[in-house]
Amino acid sequence: MNILITYATYSGNTKEAAELIADFLEEAGHAVGFHWIGGEPVPDVSEYDALILGSFTWAEGSVPEEVKNFILDVGYKPENTFIFGTGDTQFGGDALFCRAAVKLARFYESSMPALKIEQSPRGGQEAAVREWTDHVAERLGAKAYDRVPY
Ligand SMILES: Cc1cc2nc3c(=O)[nH]c(=O)nc-3n(C[C@H](O)[C@H](O)[C@H](O)COP(=O)(O)O)c2cc1C
Repeated sequence: MNILITYATYSGNTKEAAELIADFLEEAGHAVGFHWIGGEPVPDVSEYDALILGSFTWAEGSVPEEVKNFILDVGYKPENTFIFGTGDTQFGGDALFCRAAVKLARFYESSMPALKIEQSPRGGQEAAVREWTDHVAERLGAKAYDRVPY
C-alpha cells in the first residue's frame, strides 16, 4: 500500500508520533509519503491508498486552523482516512484530551477511533502507537474482504 502520513505540529510531539507510525508501516512493507501540514505544499492525496492525518489539539479542544485549511485544500474526504493526535490532559481533562483528533475522526467517518497520545509518544506510548498502526494496516489489508471489528 502507498500511504500518506500528514501531520500538524508546533512543538514536535505530533511529528514524533507521525515518524513512529511511518517506521512501523515501512517495517510492514508499506510505502509512506510524509507531509507537514502548514509547512509544505499540499500533496495530491488521490495518489495514495490511504491517508493518516495527525493533529495536536488547540484552545479548548479546537482543530488547528492549518488543519482546517489542509482539509479545504484537499477538497474531498478520502475513503481510507485514519486519525491520530497528541494532546495534554492538563488542558481540560478527558473531555478535551485530543479533542481535535476525535472531531477529525468523526468528520472523516474513519473506520477506526482516533489514536490519542499524551504529549510525546517516546518513552512509554510506543506500544500504543504500534498497536493502533497494526490495526490500520490490518484494516487496509482486509479492505477487499470482510472488515474486522476494532
Ligand atoms: C494554548 C494551548 C491549548 C491547548 N489545548 C489543548 C486541549 O484542549 N486539549 C488537549 O488535549 N491538548 C491541548 N493542548 C496541548 C497540545 O495539544 C499538546 O501539547 C500537543 O502534544 C502539542 O503538539 P505538538 O508538539 O505536535 O505541537 C494545548 C496546548 C496549548 C499550548
